[in-house]
Amino acid sequence: MAYITETVTCVRHWNERLFSFRTTRKPTYRFKNGHFVMIGIEDEGKPLMRAYSIASANYEEELEFFSIKVPNGPLTSKLQHIKVGDELMLSEKSTGTLVTDYTLPGKNLWLISTGTGLAPFMSIIKDPEVYEQFDKIILTHGARYKKCLAYHDLITQKLPNNEFIGDIVKEKLLYYPTVTREEFKNQGRLTDLIKSGKLAKDLGLPKINLEDDRFMLCGSEALIKDMSDILDEMGFIKAKKRTQGHYVLENAFVEK
Ligand code: A2P
Repeated sequence: MAYITETVTCVRHWNERLFSFRTTRKPTYRFKNGHFVMIGIEDEGKPLMRAYSIASANYEEELEFFSIKVPNGPLTSKLQHIKVGDELMLSEKSTGTLVTDYTLPGKNLWLISTGTGLAPFMSIIKDPEVYEQFDKIILTHGARYKKCLAYHDLITQKLPNNEFIGDIVKEKLLYYPTVTREEFKNQGRLTDLIKSGKLAKDLGLPKINLEDDRFMLCGSEALIKDMSDILDEMGFIKAKKRTQGHYVLENAFVEK
């Protein structure tokens, strides 16, 4: 695989389990919002790389990534100590299925994420073309604790006031954070909230149905599996390589 090098410009530690960072971006570096790349460092003379979704939009000057910290994770145990000025390796090409090319046209686009699975959706909710294709974009984020609801302020405060996309965000973006291990305005697993119909009801939307609703899933293997089972049972069809479907998915690539 061909690699390029970029420089870290900013690091943010959200808590003891999560951090995000930005890097420089060569003007020639192209990707689709929702795509992932391989990123990593040189470890004992060899590239140590893992897949990471790009959390910044493809029109932004820098690249952003959102990562878990695993104390004994081969890459993240090291990556969590990166500092401004450090160099990172990036695969030259990006790829991924979390793009609207693979979803059938519809009314509502549900972005279902847990943990760092939020990352590709941070890119997608900044994409003006996605807003053109759907009436509502519903960004959901399931986390254990409130402190794990990374990007909360960017989504609720900054984006709606963005000079270019603020108006369309105010009109079309719905945000539904939920936590499972402490008190919060929304509580419970996204899978349960969808199955029971509570999520749609809380947002003032009609019951989820085949005609109107499309889904992108990104999170742990367990979330993907359980959520796919729920959608399959409701009659939704997963997109295949060459055929569009009602939903697309990608693992959040968390290291165990
Ligand atoms: P829970 O606290 O009940 O395990 P994690 O940090 O482990 O990736 O989890 C992030 C969030 O995803 C947590 O709120 C967790 O809930 C939830 N979660 C874990 N597994 C599933 C699943 N199979 N379906 C839906 N949500 C899940």
